[in-house]
Amino acid sequence: MTFRKIFPETNAYAQERALRDTLLRQPLGLTMDAESVDWADGTRHFGLFDETDTLVACVLASPGPNGSVRLRQMAVSSASQSSGFGRSLMQQAEAELRRSGVKSLSLHARDTAIGFYEKLGYSRVGDIYLELGIPHQLMGKELVRKE
Ligand SMILES: CC(C)(COP(=O)(O)OP(=O)(O)OC[C@H]1O[C@@H](n2cnc3c(N)ncnc32)[C@H](O)[C@@H]1OP(=O)(O)O)[C@@H](O)C(=O)NCCC(=O)NCCS
Repeated sequence: MTFRKIFPETNAYAQERALRDTLLRQPLGLTMDAESVDWADGTRHFGLFDETDTLVACVLASPGPNGSVRLRQMAVSSASQSSGFGRSLMQQAEAELRRSGVKSLSLHARDTAIGFYEKLGYSRVGDIYLELGIPHQLMGKELVRKE
């Protein structure tokens, strides 16, 4: 598997939109935001690709308050779930973000995925709340230990 950044107007980006639509939007009866929204605020896109250059997993990293970054749109293709690819993508994205000076991460976890993020060292912040009509949990992680 190869980890790399995804850029606009590429085949990789088209695969990313299809994966997010299938795994994250269609099941909720929602449509995808316009492509311009995906790149509006300097959001970085990361993907994990197999040997045929097929996208297996993706995650987006959007700028947050005080130099933090919010991870979102995390998805692993159904056929490749429960094989360690979600963990691999998250760890490589965290390393890339740490290298670029990011100190802390946050994310809005669907309640069905809280356990996954806890395994990766994310902590719950506050109570469960509704977003897109389904239960979510705010979670956070320090990339750089505070002195
Ligand atoms: C949730 C998701 C990203 C996890 O990715 P994955 O590749 O299946 O997870 P991995 O195989 O890397 O699992 C890493 C660890 O987390 C655990 N884990 C994975 N999914 C989990 C879940 N939903 N709940 C609890 N634990 C989970 C695994 O058992 C594994 O534990 P181990 O290291 O002790 O063996 C993936 O299943 C997915 O894309 N689901 C559909 C879309 C979605 O819910 N995205 C997240 C929205 S917030």
